[in-house]
This record gives sequence, C-alpha cells and structure tokens, in this order.
Amino acid sequence: MLEASPPILNHPVSPQAASDADACTRRLRLLESLFSNAGWGMAISSCDSQTLVEVNPAFARMHGYQVEALQGAPVEKVFAPAAWEEAKANIAKVHEQGQHQFESRHIRCDGSEFPVLVDATVVRDERGEPIFRVISVQDISSTREVTRALRDARDQLRALSAHHHAEMEAEKRTIAREMHDELGQLLTGLKMEVSTLGRRFAQVEGMDVAVSDIQSQLKHIMTVVRQVAGNLRPPVLELGLFAGVEWLVEEVQRRCGLDIDLECSQGDAISARLSSDQATVIFRCVQESLTNVMRHAQASHVDITMNCQNDKLYLRIVDNGVGFLPATVLARQAFGLKGMRERVQAWGGQMLIISQPGAGATIDIQLPLNKELTP
Ligand SMILES: Nc1ncnc2c1ncn2[C@@H]1O[C@H](COP(=O)(O)OP(=O)(O)O)[C@@H](O)[C@H]1O
Ligand SMILES: [Mg+2]
Repeated sequence: MLEASPPILNHPVSPQAASDADACTRRLRLLESLFSNAGWGMAISSCDSQTLVEVNPAFARMHGYQVEALQGAPVEKVFAPAAWEEAKANIAKVHEQGQHQFESRHIRCDGSEFPVLVDATVVRDERGEPIFRVISVQDISSTREVTRALRDARDQLRALSAHHHAEMEAEKRTIAREMHDELGQLLTGLKMEVSTLGRRFAQVEGMDVAVSDIQSQLKHIMTVVRQVAGNLRPPVLELGLFAGVEWLVEEVQRRCGLDIDLECSQGDAISARLSSDQATVIFRCVQESLTNVMRHAQASHVDITMNCQNDKLYLRIVDNGVGFLPATVLARQAFGLKGMRERVQAWGGQMLIISQPGAGATIDIQLPLNKELTP
C-alpha cells in the first residue's frame, strides 16, 4: 500500500522571507547579466568531468563558437593541441594553490590559434572538495604584438646607436689622423721658415727674441695638436685594446696622480680576439669609467682587471671612492653610464654597476670574444 503523502503545509510566507527572496533573485539576475555581458571570456568548468559547464558569450565569441556548442564540451577542446600538456600541469597547479594564472595557447573553431592569459580559481563544497573552476580568459595577441613591436624597436635603436658610434669613431680616426699629419706638417714647415727668416734677418734688432718667441708658441701649438688628436682617438689603440688601455692608464696617472693597478695577464690574446670596433667599445668604457672616477669618486686607488675565459672578455674597474646609488643615477639624464651599457649590450655583452654611498664603485663588463659578431 502506498504511503499517504504528507499534507502540504499551508503556511503563509512571512514578509521578511519574501523580501529576502526578492533580494536573492535580484542578485542572481545581476550576476547573470555580468556573466552574459562581460567583455572578457568567462567559463565554469567541472572538476569531475573536466568539461565546460558554462561559458559566457565573450568566451564563445573569442573561440568562434556559439555558447551552446561549448556547453558540456571537454576543457581540452579550447586548448591548442601543442599547449595541452603544459595546460594540464597548470590546471593541477590551480588545484594545488586554489588560484593560479598562466599563459597558454587556445584554438578557435576554424583551427587558428591565439595566445591567452588564463586566471582560474577552484570553488569547493563545504567539505573542501573541489566542485568547479571559475575561469577568466584574456586574448593577449595584441599585448604580444605590442611587446614584439617594442622589442623590435629597441633592437633597431640599439643597432642604430651602435652604427652611429662606429661612424663617429671612424670620423674621429680621420680627424685625428688629418690633424696629426696635415696640421703637424704645416706647423713643422712654419717652424723651419721662421728659423730661416731669423737667420736671414739676424742683424735686425730684436729679431732673435721675436723668432724664439714664435718658435716656442709654435712648439706649444704642436703639443696641443698632438694632444687633441690623441684624445680624439689614441693612435696606440691601433695596436690593440691592451696597448690602448695601458696608454690610457698612464695618461690618467700622469694627469691626476691617481694610483691605478692594471692587471691583464692575457692582454695580447684578448687584443687578438677582438675586432677594431669591439676593442673601441671596451676602450671607451674604460675611458668613461676613469673619467667618472676622476670627476665624481674622490678615490685614491683604482683596480682594473681584464681577462678572458670561456670565449668571454671580463673587465672589472673598481674604485675606493665615495660610491653612489646606481638606480637613482640611471633614472637621471646621465648618459655616460647608460651609453656604456648600451654599447656593451649592442655587442651581445652585459654591464653591471655595483655601488653604494661610501663603498666605492665597481663596473663589471662581459663581452663575447668573437670577431665575427656584429651589433
Ligand atoms: N665612480 C664613481 N664614483 C662616484 N659616483 C659616480 C661614479 N661614476 C658615476 N658616478 C655618479 O653617476 C653619475 C652619472 O655618471 P655618468 O652617467 O657617467 O654621467 P656624468 O659623468 O656625465 O655625470 C655621476 O654624475 C655621478 O653622480
Ligand atoms: Mg661620466
């Protein structure tokens, strides 16, 4: 015999309960409208069956489907086949951590793929068992394109800057040579003519004093010309990087009495493995570093070490001066250090600045030793 159904209780609904139910319905409608109208892709997937339970229109549009075509579909369906293994590992991480964000590749209905940023959160029941995952998916093709365009622009700027520096160096070399050869010859000729003039008019009163005065001025001009030409581009640099750095160190010591230790046991080997342009980049780095020490460091001692290992040149310049905060300085409009780093990076190298107030400064440079490389 069938049991009689319990009588339906005919309790009147209290006004409070009715208003709670209304509020609940309003909230549900609001959430549903958010889900349906959101501009970014949202989905809910089941943890048991690994299927998409719900997707919003933006998610479906992003993948080229109607919403219905994805409801109940396996999660794998929206992942590019090559990205699925890694995606599974990321889904495992979502469960481990409760929430996880990762980049992946999704696939559209027409088979085309696109990069995505996935953010997934696990929702658990009252016993802590995972029931579903709430997922938001962003198509990051345009972000990727912007990043790629930025990277390309930076590479082009770097190559342009390296090219500009190489041209400037070539120009400096020409000017230095012309100053030294042309101007030097003219001045030597002038010196000889003044001597001849002095001899021919030796009987004129005061001539010997005037001639010797002009001679000493000409000597001074010749020294200045040699100095300016040498500063533009030291001829000794043509003998290789090591010879150039040795000359520079002697010049700085002579000019300001700074105590500099240059340690370079493999000088010739290094010089032989660098192209003229690469040697110039390193020479200019040492020059700028020593100028910085003279100008800013108030140091009494500098150590320069240069050696090669594993096809790389290692250059370290350490001073015992007042030091500085690299991050603060690099944020300013100071182009000495930035220019050094830029030139080193253009040749595939790296430059590190280690310093803090009161603790001296270290410039660390690494550069691949390969003559074939170009910026
Ligand atoms: N060896 C150093 N010791 C102390 N301060 C330094 C040293 N090298 C650089 N600086 C600081 O970093 C700043 C930036 O240097 P740099 O980029 O070469 O530009 P500039 O020499 O034209 O000021 C300097 O103004 C100075 O404050
Ligand atoms: Mg400087």
